[in-house]
Amino acid sequence: MAFKLNVNGKVLSADVDGDTPLLWVLRDTLGILGPKYGCGVAQCGACTVHIDGAPMRSCAIPVEGLGQSKIVTIEGVGASAVGKKVQQAWSELDVAQCGYCQAGQIMSATALLAEKPKPTDADIDEAMAGNLCRCATYTRIRAAIKLASGQKTEA
Ligand code: FES
Ligand code: FES
Repeated sequence: MAFKLNVNGKVLSADVDGDTPLLWVLRDTLGILGPKYGCGVAQCGACTVHIDGAPMRSCAIPVEGLGQSKIVTIEGVGASAVGKKVQQAWSELDVAQCGYCQAGQIMSATALLAEKPKPTDADIDEAMAGNLCRCATYTRIRAAIKLASGQKTEA
C-alpha cells in the first residue's frame, strides 16, 4: 500500500505494508539512515524520531497510523533553533563515543529542551532514561544538555 509521509518537511511516498514499523520505512524504503536499529522493541531509544514534536520510538510505530504527522529525524532536527543548539553542544563537548545511540540521544534531548528550556537534573534524567548508551556517555550527554540550555556545566 502506498503511504505519503511528511519527513523533515518533505512529503515522501513509501509502498509498504501498513504494519511496517516506521524505522524500517525510514531506513530501508526512504534511505534515511540516521535513526538506528538497536533493540526493535522500544527499549533502547536508538531509533528515536520526533512525531509532531514528541520523541517516539520509530521501531514500534506502524506506518499506517501516522497520517500527515510531522516526522523529524536527526537529518532534519538541525532546522530548528533548539535542535541546532543541541547539535552544537554535542559537538563542542565531543559527546559521542562509538556514536550508535547518539542520533536518538539528540532527538530526545531536543524534545526535552523544546518543552523545558531550562531542565533540572531530574528533568534530564526522566527525559533521557529511555535512551541507552553502551559506551556510557551519560555524563557528557547531561553536560551537553545543560550547555545547550545555557546553564552552567562542569564538563
Ligand atoms: S530500536 Fe527502537 S527502541 Fe531500540
Ligand atoms: S556512544 Fe556508543 S552506544 Fe552511545
